[in-house]
Amino acid sequence: MKALILVGGFGTRLRPLTLSMPKPLVEFANKPMILHQIEALKAVGVTEVVLAINYQPEIMLNFLKEFEIKLDIKITCSQETEPLGTAGPLALARDKLTDDSGEPFFVLNSDVICNYPLKEMIEFHKSHGGEASIMVTKVDEPSKYGVVVMEEMTGIVDKFVEKPKVFVGNKINAGIYLLNPSVLGRIELRPTSIEKEVFPSIAAEKKLYAMVLPGFWMDIGQPRDYITGLRLYLDSLQKNSSPRLAFGSHIVGNVLVDETAVIGDGCLIGPDVAIGPGCVVESGVRLSQCTVMRGVRIKKHACISSSIIGWHSTVGRWARIENMTILGEDVHLGDEVYCNGGVVLPHKEIKSSILKPEIVM
Ligand code: GDD
Ligand code: MG
Repeated sequence: MKALILVGGFGTRLRPLTLSMPKPLVEFANKPMILHQIEALKAVGVTEVVLAINYQPEIMLNFLKEFEIKLDIKITCSQETEPLGTAGPLALARDKLTDDSGEPFFVLNSDVICNYPLKEMIEFHKSHGGEASIMVTKVDEPSKYGVVVMEEMTGIVDKFVEKPKVFVGNKINAGIYLLNPSVLGRIELRPTSIEKEVFPSIAAEKKLYAMVLPGFWMDIGQPRDYITGLRLYLDSLQKNSSPRLAFGSHIVGNVLVDETAVIGDGCLIGPDVAIGPGCVVESGVRLSQCTVMRGVRIKKHACISSSIIGWHSTVGRWARIENMTILGEDVHLGDEVYCNGGVVLPHKEIKSSILKPEIVM
């Protein structure tokens, strides 16, 4: 089986992290986002993953070389010279996605996180005999997504409306599809949207089926959702009694600590924290609802909540970081600095407090 991951776009909503690397390579729960997906695809027998990309393909391919070998899976790029949207890239990769087997192939948005019930999806697809299957999930704020109106009993999709202005339902497209090769016959090689053009037309012929995704789901392409997504992800690790979760008297709730990170005495860490490789957390530090990327040093008695600390940054003693602060790569925050929702671009030194949410260039 084959799969295509849509990895285009500039990841602007996840800046300043995406100023240092393409969004799919940004770590989520101590693992690059795209690896969560490639591993899940491999687990259901996918042998080749095509990355549909329009931005920095060399960085992606170089990075993924190691995992091609480790996971024993073929990873190739299909590069656009202009952004082709969410459907055009399928037409561009047509030859890579089809072979004599006539098997369906997976298509994934690169920024969604869940337990990837792909095996269940293959069974669902086989059972209904339609042309395409999509995974859907319920959300409170459907207007940011593609909304799907479906028949509960059969799964037949009656209507697909991308980012509706008026309420049509609360089941949304989760960004995971299983498509018969015939769907490629519906897509022209031009910038075009699978959500606005392709799905509505398959739905009109009653050949589009939706499966309600069991378990959690989140689009982690924006900081607030990234932080919520980490909570849901760690919660699901906890439910599955994962040995990856940290334990000890200094840990509260669900926490991931890379084995190469060093945690000082008297810290209190959690809930919903991920600490990456090579990090040094000095004594007396308090961390909750945050991600600390590779190589960060957090000095004594600093306190961080609801924030993301980019690679190789340092946080000074008694510093306080909160309210969706995002520090880019290699940012150095002085002692006693207070950061209330600042977004700091890479390679900066911050000596005075950031009192309200703002971008620091
Ligand atoms: N190759 C390529 N080229 N990929 C692209 C392009 C492009 O021109 N434009 C977007 N993508 C990729 C993005 O990288 C992402 O993985 C995926 O297509 C979806 O784009 P987003 O920009 O993240 O869309 P969205 O989050 O607003 O909405 C989409 O995802 C929702 C679920 O998270 C839609 O599919 C919605 O229907 C869906 O509910
Ligand atoms: Mg998205």
